[in-house]
This record gives sequence, C-alpha cells and structure tokens, in this order.
Amino acid sequence: MTDLRPSDDEFEPYEEDRGIPLPVSWIAIALALWGIVMLYHNNRSVMIGRSERSEAAKPQSRDVGAGGAGIFLARCATCHQPNGSGVAGAVPPLASSPFLKAKPEVVVQILLHGIDGPIRVGDDVFDGHMPSFASVLSDDDLAQVANHVRKGWGASQTISAAFVAGQRARFPDRGAWNGGSEIAATLDPTLPPQPAPRPDAGTGIDPAVAGLVQHGSGDAWACASCHGSQGQGRANVPRLAGLPAAYISAQLAAFASGSRRDDTMTVVARALSQNQRETVGNYYAGLRTPSTARPSLDGDLERGEILALQGDWKHGVPACFSCHGPSGFGVAPGFPALAAQHPAYTADQLAAWRGKVHRASPNDVMNMVANSLSDSDRRAVADFLATLPPVPAAHRQEPVHGRSVAR
Ligand code: HEC
Ligand code: HEC
Ligand code: HEC
Repeated sequence: MTDLRPSDDEFEPYEEDRGIPLPVSWIAIALALWGIVMLYHNNRSVMIGRSERSEAAKPQSRDVGAGGAGIFLARCATCHQPNGSGVAGAVPPLASSPFLKAKPEVVVQILLHGIDGPIRVGDDVFDGHMPSFASVLSDDDLAQVANHVRKGWGASQTISAAFVAGQRARFPDRGAWNGGSEIAATLDPTLPPQPAPRPDAGTGIDPAVAGLVQHGSGDAWACASCHGSQGQGRANVPRLAGLPAAYISAQLAAFASGSRRDDTMTVVARALSQNQRETVGNYYAGLRTPSTARPSLDGDLERGEILALQGDWKHGVPACFSCHGPSGFGVAPGFPALAAQHPAYTADQLAAWRGKVHRASPNDVMNMVANSLSDSDRRAVADFLATLPPVPAAHRQEPVHGRSVAR
C-alpha cells in the first residue's frame, strides 16, 4: 500500500495558514501567499500557479474597484507589479511592452486565452503562465483594463466592449497561446522576433506509441478519438495531459481488472500490455497541453476556491490541495492533478465515489471526501478547478519503469 500522507516537505507552508480568518481580504491573502512563496520557494511553477489561483480565479462577484485602474490593481498587479515592472525571471514587464503597442487584438486575445509558452519582452525571455480572464471578467471590464495598460505603457487607441466581444467570438474553443511566436504569427507579425514555441505533442515520441495513441490497434481504440489529439479531454472524458505517469498506468490496470468500472475503458485497457500502459502513462504525463476546461456547471467559484484551498471542517471536507498539491498540479505517483480537469468529469467522479460501485480509491480516501460534499459543493469545486492553469513544464513527473502504484 502506498503511504497516502504526503511527506512533510510536500506539505506547503499554506497548511499552517488554515487558521487565518476568512474575512481578511483576499488581496491580503494573495499578497501573503506571494510573500510566503517568494520566501520559501525558488520553484517558479509553484509561484506562478499559486498567485494565478488567487488572482485569476477570483470570482466575478468580487468588487474590483472602479475602472481600468481598479481592475488592474485587483487582477494584474500581484504578478505584473503595481508599476508594471514585472518580476525578473518570472513575470514580464508591461511598462513599454511591445505587446501593448501592437494591434489592440493582441492584448485582448492574451487576456481572453492566457499564454502558456515562451515569450520575449525587451531583452528577456519568459516561460511562465499568464492566466485566462475570459470567464472572470466581462467584455466591459476587459476593455477597461486593456485600455488602462495600453494607455499607461503602450498605445492610445481605445478598445470598446464590442471589440472585446468580437475578439471573444474569434477563437471560441482554443486554450492558451503557445508563447509569443504563436501570438505574432496569428495576430500581429510586426511584433519583435519571438522564441520558438514549445514542441507539439508527438515530437520525440516513439512512433509505436504515437501510432497507438493517435490511431489505435485492435481493441485498443485510438485514445485521441476520445481524449483529444493532445490529451486535452472534453466534457466527461478526462484530460490526461500532465497526470502522473504511474497514476495513469495504475488506472489502466484498474480498468483492466474491473476494480474501476467503465465499459469502454475496460475494453481498451485489457487490450494493452502492462508495458504499453506504462508507455502511454509516460507519454501523457509529459504532455503540456493548454487547458480547454471551462466552468460549465454553474458552480459557486468562490465556494469552490475555499473547498480546494482550505476545505470545510464543519462539513468534514479536507482541503483538496492538501493531497493534490498546492496548485492542484498533483503529487506523483498517486495523487492526480485536478487543475484544468473538465468539470463534468470531476463532478461525475465525485458523485460516483459516493456509491463506491464505480471506482475504488486507496484506503477509501476519495469515498470519504466525496461523501461529505453536497451536490452544489461538487459543482462549485469542479468549476473552480477548471479555472486553474494546467500542470506547467517546470513541474517534473518521474517516468515509470516496470513499477506500478500499490492500490
Ligand atoms: C498569475 C500571474 C499573472 C497575472 C494575475 C496576470 N499576468 Fe499577465 N503575464 C503573466 C506571465 C507569467 C506572462 C508571460 C507568459 C509566458 O511567460 O508565457 C504574462 C504576460 C502578459 C502580457 C504579454 C507580455 C507583456 O509583458 O506585455 C500582457 C499584455 C499581460 N500579461 C497583461 C496582463 C493583464 C492586463 C493582467 C490583468 C488583467 C495580467 N496580465 C494578469 C502573469 C500574470
Ligand atoms: C471511446 C472513448 C475512449 C477511448 C477510445 C479511450 N478512452 Fe480513456 N476514458 C474514456 C472515458 C469516458 C473515461 C472516464 C471513465 C470514468 O468515468 O471513469 C476515460 C478514462 C481514462 C483514464 C482515467 C483518467 C483519470 O483521470 O483517472 C485513463 C488513464 C484513460 N482513459 C486512458 C486511455 C488510453 C491510454 C486510451 C487509448 C489506449 C484511452 N483511454 C482510450 C474514454 C475513452
Ligand atoms: C486525503 C487525500 C485526499 C484529499 C484530501 C482529496 N483527495 Fe482527491 N484523490 C486522492 C487520491 C489518492 C486519488 C486517486 C484515487 C485513485 O487512485 O483512484 C484522488 C483522486 C481524485 C479525483 C479523480 C481524478 C481523476 O483524474 O480521475 C478527483 C476528481 C478528486 N480526487 C477530487 C478531489 C476533491 C475535489 C477534493 C477536495 C474536496 C479531494 N479530491 C481531496 C486523495 C485525496
């Protein structure tokens, strides 16, 4: 049996913050987290993931203050700094950024979809995560904050809410921009030269695995036909990209043995050898596909954030992130990433665990968690998790070799 308690160093200092009374303003919490993270971690992925969680995921109902300046302070300043200087090595400056002097669609598209890939601003290359604000800010708010940053540090042309609405309709289903080069090629070729994007899934992959994943073989139907060409998933088909390798192969073994029930996946998993299960596990664990998950269950995002970060001890719900990692990126080998998972799938699993028929979990931990969640809490936490950025490149996963997780 795997020891389910993460070791002490996997527990983040956040754990000790559980006692902070909620009325403390979220901004203060975000700043405190930022400070703690700066003190304790040089790990950029954790740093960005954490402040993304507290900034981008703030629900719409919050009072963001008047006009573009207020929205900037509430939503952007934690990362880009109040004076737009950015954070060396982690967050690019907005002050005199070529992306703000570029065509107005550039900043609007960045705000709508976020960035997940290398980008050059001035002399420096950044490779972090700019969160999407599409679901947390209205067209009018987006126009106001875009005008604020462009007027302060870039161009003067005014952006209207109608212009934002038009930009929103352009790429309705896309995930984050794959760095500056994709933005330049798609939106404004006059931007200064940008670094090469991260390689697509499929490059450097054993052709036999790529063939299995993309085209299938016998009863092992093409994984891509349901899980998407990049493991992005959709609705109640889970996102696989970035899940721990050993977790994936253990789930495939569980489908094959019948201890996790799903008619399709049982057929598929039985057609795979143990070696193939590990190989596809390593393949999907290494993919860094942008998130295509969006809140879709009408859940209360604010409540979802509380459940994920702090839990609700009155109702016996532990903080999801105490096991699934401080940003919901998962903890290999046994705790899957929850960030960027599709809400319908997350909520389905949580509902299924209440019955225990569909799926076991080690020591029944998830059965206990799921039993303390009400229907509205399931929708709230599933929708909140869908607003989070996916597991970043810096979050390394150990590949599995002939080893599977004890279940
Ligand atoms: C969680 C931290 C975070 C928040 C919050 C955030 N950004 Fe960003 N932003 C980034 C990072 C990191 C990048 C670079 C992305 C990369 O490296 O791939 C970026 C890139 C950008 C860029 C393009 C590069 C540049 O420097 O011009 C613009 C424009 C931008 N952000 C504007 C905003 C605005 C406006 C807001 C508030 C609505 C905001 N950001 C909120 C982290 C953040
Ligand atoms: C016909 C559609 C379909 C095909 C083809 C398919 N899957 Fe699935 N897969 C699903 C669905 C639906 C689920 C969710 C099952 C559930 O609700 O428990 C799933 C679940 C999974 C899970 C569990 C993920 C998690 O987060 O726990 C893994 C791993 C997986 N599939 C891997 C694969 C691999 C590898 C292939 C190709 C060899 C594949 N699947 C082919 C539909 C499919
Ligand atoms: C005590 C540790 C623990 C806590 C707390 C916890 N989980 Fe889990 N969770 C697990 C483990 C272990 C698994 C893997 C189960 C398996 O191997 O089948 C898991 C799996 C999941 C899955 C399945 C993911 C997938 O890809 O199929 C979901 C969804 C999930 N947890 C949601 C939550 C939510 C939401 C919370 C907070 C309300 C939470 N968990 C709290 C330990 C925990």
